[in-house]
Amino acid sequence: MRTKTKILGIETSCDETAAAVVEDGSRIISDVVASQIDIHARYGGVVPEVASRQHLLTIIPVVSQAMTEISWQDINGIAVTFGPGLAGSLLVGVNVAKAIALAKKLPITGVNHLEAHIYANWLDPPPAGENGRVKFPCLCLIVSGGHSDLVLMKGHGQFEKLGRTRDDAAGEAFDKAARILDLGYPGGPAIERAARSGIPCLPLPRAWLKGSHDFSFSGLKTALWHLVHKGGVSVADVAASFQLAIVDVLVAKTIEAAKQLKVEQILLSGGVAANKTLTRHFLASSPVPVLIPPPHLCTDNAAMVAACGYYHFQAGKISGYDLDVVPSLSLG
Ligand code: KG4
Ligand code: ZN
Repeated sequence: MRTKTKILGIETSCDETAAAVVEDGSRIISDVVASQIDIHARYGGVVPEVASRQHLLTIIPVVSQAMTEISWQDINGIAVTFGPGLAGSLLVGVNVAKAIALAKKLPITGVNHLEAHIYANWLDPPPAGENGRVKFPCLCLIVSGGHSDLVLMKGHGQFEKLGRTRDDAAGEAFDKAARILDLGYPGGPAIERAARSGIPCLPLPRAWLKGSHDFSFSGLKTALWHLVHKGGVSVADVAASFQLAIVDVLVAKTIEAAKQLKVEQILLSGGVAANKTLTRHFLASSPVPVLIPPPHLCTDNAAMVAACGYYHFQAGKISGYDLDVVPSLSLG
């Protein structure tokens, strides 16, 4: 009898080609991420057709590398992101996953990229926060390049969406602000770096959207544009003020929802959760434990897809060979 379940995860939803093998939903055996950042940086953002072609070139070497230490006979199933994301990019991962499943006679499960981000909190090393283990019900804040979602998680696979962004996602706001400030792509890490030598002293608006769990960051981006074009401000101070405006709103609204819903924990995930100012403010002001995956598991990777896939297989969620991509897939 097999005691350990090993899942191969495949992720190609945006500009990272990734494959990973994870045991029992937590122990990472391999974790390979081929980033296309250098290729897209010259355009100032992700170019969809360039991204899908790059996935096509990289996917087989990435999967092979993830499988170097392990035999195919030891793999029990394949988990692949089928949405949300760029259609052409998703198609590459889903097709390769199906081909491998067919050739190796393995079951396949389609994974929602947003659900996968949440499952970074189950991976080893455990997330920072109270003994690093998840307790239900928990409140998940997913902050990435395409989403700022607040989701109540009552158990594995049980999600209820409470709030979302009404315009720009948190990561998108960082990327657009960095473009205005000429700091390069991706914007989040660039703004965080610039903000280190600045003081958050400039007045920038916060959209509280009282009575709703939704977020809005486009007004903040416009205010930043006006501030920069008026002149006479330092880039470091603008970056620090902008970063704090986003952090203030994300932290206050998430904690307010956590109190209302009386959850056990808050789970952070998505690329923006790699931001140190965000995590410091959460840890300093939350009355409930906040779980934060290490930065490399916050940004796109396939280990989180494999971890999520493990719980899908446990629940009997298996996809057919007709699995299609769903670019606008949502969670809850
Ligand atoms: O989760 P992710 O890797 O990909 C998507 O699913 O979108 O998130 C990427 C986003 C980008 O917008 C990037 O600027 C942002 O996460 N990001 C950060 C940081 N690292 C990545 N934002 C703020 N601070 C960071 N350190
Ligand atoms: Zn992502």
